[in-house]
Amino acid sequence: MSTPSQPGQPAAAGTGCLKPFSFVICAGVIPGPLSPPGVHCHVRIVLRLHRLTLTDFRNYAALTWRPRARISVLIGPNGSGKTNLLEAVSLLVPGRGLRGSRGADLPRRGGPGYWAVAGKFSTILGETDIGTGTAPDGISDRRVFRLDGTTPRNQAEIASRAAAVWLTPRMDRLFQEGASGRRRFLDRLVWALDAAHAREVAAHDGAMVQRNRLLAERRAEPAWLSGLEDAMARHGVAATAARMALVRRLNAEPPTLDGAVTSAFPAARIDLVCAIANRLAISPALEVEDWLRAELAANRGRDAASGTTVLGAHRADMMLTDLESRTEAGLASTGQQKALLIGVILRHARLIADARGFAPLLLLDEPAVHLDEQRRAALFQALRESPAQVIMSGTDAATFLPLADHAEAWRAHAGELRPEPGFLACSPLSSDGVTC
Ligand SMILES: Nc1ncnc2c1ncn2[C@@H]1O[C@H](COP(=O)(O)OP(=O)(O)O)[C@@H](O)[C@H]1O
Ligand SMILES: [Mg+2]
Repeated sequence: MSTPSQPGQPAAAGTGCLKPFSFVICAGVIPGPLSPPGVHCHVRIVLRLHRLTLTDFRNYAALTWRPRARISVLIGPNGSGKTNLLEAVSLLVPGRGLRGSRGADLPRRGGPGYWAVAGKFSTILGETDIGTGTAPDGISDRRVFRLDGTTPRNQAEIASRAAAVWLTPRMDRLFQEGASGRRRFLDRLVWALDAAHAREVAAHDGAMVQRNRLLAERRAEPAWLSGLEDAMARHGVAATAARMALVRRLNAEPPTLDGAVTSAFPAARIDLVCAIANRLAISPALEVEDWLRAELAANRGRDAASGTTVLGAHRADMMLTDLESRTEAGLASTGQQKALLIGVILRHARLIADARGFAPLLLLDEPAVHLDEQRRAALFQALRESPAQVIMSGTDAATFLPLADHAEAWRAHAGELRPEPGFLACSPLSSDGVTC
């Protein structure tokens, strides 16, 4: 079932409707996917999602949605399918999507058992179709990608064309809950820029699980344990170095968005709380690996008694400090925490834009919740100034009315999206030549 088309209304310049393609003016250099960080462009080649098709995905039996403005707001009460739609978009880039769900949760309950999500994009490499869904065997939990009608060689091919960053309500609790959530948050930021990071973390954690099992079984296998501790040391130091590199780059990124000061998203310093990082700050990596190997070997008895590995990259935590008030996020209010996180996510989006040559999609699930009026206004201002396509959600249309001159809004209801009155209305044919 397609969404009904919006009433055709000519779009005035500056309204922010989607352009089919934008050009880059970049001091004579068009940055490729591997451009070094620090290349700043006045106008970026943009990434735009023009059409999204869902087939038996979560609560959507069949939906074709054509976002036409640069900023789209999904409106609807709880359970109306807003997060499901954002999740669908997030699955069009490598990774497990913004919910990190298992594949088995994605097919529509009561449907045929398979699912598919497809997006038509304007990308740095031209018009591109990206699709994902159930593997052809139809039974495995594995999902597969399609790129322009063929199977991509690897996920890096997808990453060179499309990227997305997101903010979810689950992140509202990031500083109330344990270190593992913060570590996963940080690792996802690292992984978005450094594809090898996920493998390093998985190799470290896999070796650690095996070592814990050997120690629990009280099997005296020194050679085997040494091999596992060697893997933990090598992969743990590599993963920590990648985390440190990202933290350094995020901390160096000014709290501005394309020249405008976003003071409502206070400059925040990220600190990695990690014994390995402390060592790496003062010693070469090979020395730190030797130290970690020796520590792990010396503490087999202690780790066997406690049933865990006390030292390793799996113990890292992340701290966020508001540089203005000197408040650590764990002690800040929920709204202050959210503002700090939004600041981090916008800075991360800029790092991706610098590295890949295009601004990633911004998927913001309930971004206005917990923000006071001033911070909401600042968020909307930041989104106005950003070159990125934004898809965000909220329960109340009135919250987003200050953006009505830049955003279109859609009401999610019973597996369909209908245009919400009071917001921008762009016809698909009128968007040529419009300045985003
Ligand atoms: N696999 C599925 N099949 C059918 N419905 C689903 C599936 N997964 C989730 N849902 C339903 O989708 C609805 C909307 O979820 P969600 O997008 O999270 O709502 P919200 O608008 O509050 O963000 C929920 O009622 C949930 O039960
Ligand atoms: Mg939701």
